[in-house]
Amino acid sequence: TNLAGAASKDNKRYFGDAYQSFYLADPRYGPILDSQFSAYTPENEMKWEVIEPTRGVFNWTGSDLIVAHAKKTHSIVRGHNFCWDSQTPSYVTSITDPTELTQVLEEHINAVLGRYGNDLYAFDVINEPLNDNGTIKSSVWSNVLGENYIETALTIAHKAAPNVKLYINDYNIEGVNSKSQALATIAKNLLDKGVPLHGIGFESHFIGGELPGDISQSMKQFTDLGLDVAITELDIRVPVDSSGIANATVRKLQADNYATVVQACLDNGNCPGVTVWGFDDGHSWIPGVFAGQGDANLYDFNYQPKPAYYSTLAALQNG
Ligand code: G3I
Repeated sequence: TNLAGAASKDNKRYFGDAYQSFYLADPRYGPILDSQFSAYTPENEMKWEVIEPTRGVFNWTGSDLIVAHAKKTHSIVRGHNFCWDSQTPSYVTSITDPTELTQVLEEHINAVLGRYGNDLYAFDVINEPLNDNGTIKSSVWSNVLGENYIETALTIAHKAAPNVKLYINDYNIEGVNSKSQALATIAKNLLDKGVPLHGIGFESHFIGGELPGDISQSMKQFTDLGLDVAITELDIRVPVDSSGIANATVRKLQADNYATVVQACLDNGNCPGVTVWGFDDGHSWIPGVFAGQGDANLYDFNYQPKPAYYSTLAALQNG
């Protein structure tokens, strides 16, 4: 029994992990990756600053390794990402001319999808485009190209790789609120115009005990439009002690929360799968960003499965 197997069997879902290629240097990482997961997202190695740090100069090292590993294990890859307000080099963010910015975007997308277009299942073309109040977030993309950058990037990406499912990915849209409602309106307008948009990513960086109660309803806002909704970056952070570890009561609550999220995906016929943002607490972005919180993943610092692993597996098996 394993997560990927349980997800695929009756449910026909993938179960994925986000990682960086060098995590495999730890000999304990690969066996769990290979036995439990059927989808990979490069945690950083397909981001602009990594892959094209200088205009026209490409670094394919990490992304090549992840794509090759997926071929070896017959896993799928979700690419991540093209347009974001973070991890984008200054030669891009300093551009003020719309024509030049569109040109640079097209060169970048064509290079990445030219190399990987046949190897990818999906791509987060647009990452985190909205503020929590539903307005468009400030970035070089929105500031120079206006909201239209979303349509422009999706159109370029679809032309470069017609078989890749193109996503808008964001956080705080997992419940029905101003942000998810604004995104649903944007998505509907794009689809009405015939823009190639295929899915919405619910990042799902949750806090233990604070899941939105209406994840299924929020998913429906998008799947009713004919879009897929994938869980793309799931982790559930909780308060930890000075060793970065949570107590048993908290881990039990967290386990219930993991199962709830997985169940929301299984309950919607247009949720193709769940990706966790790292499977072990030793490779989590949380402690570095949220002091006093962590223990957010399915496995502990010693690669031992936690209650959240077993509740996730059970939800997939029973789903
Ligand atoms: O690669 C450099 C290295 O050369 C340098 O020496 C080192 C020193 O700081 O930094 C390394 O870069 C780090 C990079 O991860 C690669 O490890 C950055 O500092 C660090 O900020 C960066 O963090 C990533 C973060 O995105 C950046 O915004 C996290 O690993 C990654 O998990 C996180 O992922 C995001 C998703 O892409 C979008 N949604 C939210 C999610 C969590 O923030």
